Amino acid sequence: MSVTIKTPEEVENMRIAGRLAGEVLDYIEPFVKPGITTEELDRLCHDYMVKVQGCIPAPLNYAPPGYAPYPKSICASVNHQVCHGVPNDRPLKKGDIVNLDITTIKDGWHGDTSRMFVTGGTTAGSILANRLIRITHECLWLGINAVRPGASLGDIGAAIQRHAETNGFSVVREFCGHGIGRKFHEEPQVLHYGRRGDGIRLEPGMVFTIEPMINAGKAAVSELPDGWTIVTKDRSLSAQWEHTVCVTASGVEVLTLSAGAPPNPFK
Ligand code: MF3
Ligand code: CO
Ligand code: CO
Repeated sequence: MSVTIKTPEEVENMRIAGRLAGEVLDYIEPFVKPGITTEELDRLCHDYMVKVQGCIPAPLNYAPPGYAPYPKSICASVNHQVCHGVPNDRPLKKGDIVNLDITTIKDGWHGDTSRMFVTGGTTAGSILANRLIRITHECLWLGINAVRPGASLGDIGAAIQRHAETNGFSVVREFCGHGIGRKFHEEPQVLHYGRRGDGIRLEPGMVFTIEPMINAGKAAVSELPDGWTIVTKDRSLSAQWEHTVCVTASGVEVLTLSAGAPPNPFK
């Protein structure tokens, strides 16, 4: 069990990679309209990362143990898809909700962030979809707001779980946030449920993601035959938001903010 502590110079590199990942989401938002396919969104993001930003899209050919290499440059998870949705040639429909998850590599450092979009804009979404998206975003920020030196990882998970469940939603257990740096996924695992005070204590220089996946129905998930796409077992809607954060001497810094990122709803 080893959580790497990033030096101020390393954090500066991750700030750059993180902001670039956020800027891919800023760039792609206006394209999320009825009729576009997630494959087209993938190609647009790929070209933006490679040709405009000079980044490497981390998902492309990513192959953790037991997985086939991931075939695309972004993850696009629609409606009841929870995470790791593989972009395909199905056009998005008005009111579909979609998570776009972007991970950039810049000068060897990773930045990982995702947002929810409603195809055709918020007014096209159902009341349930919009509420799930809002509560999940609040879950992300309650997790972020729990980060400070001396807090525990369990404080993050407990804050997220409490907000999701008091609103009648459920927390996906099989996937979690993660340490990040020169590697895409490193220690620690950042659970989105748990008990206050449990788990390791946070120290300045730790960098990890918080990326709650919240289901409108039950928490159970299954994997599609493509070996990547995760869906809710009960086919209920699922939402996810993600930021990469750094523990600072006084609290937390979000490394994946960009001009278009929705602000902390509690500030
Ligand atoms: N970006 C995802 C995360 O937040 C991981 C995607 S792995 C991939 O951890 F291979 F599917 F891209
Ligand atoms: Co992540
Ligand atoms: Co991600």
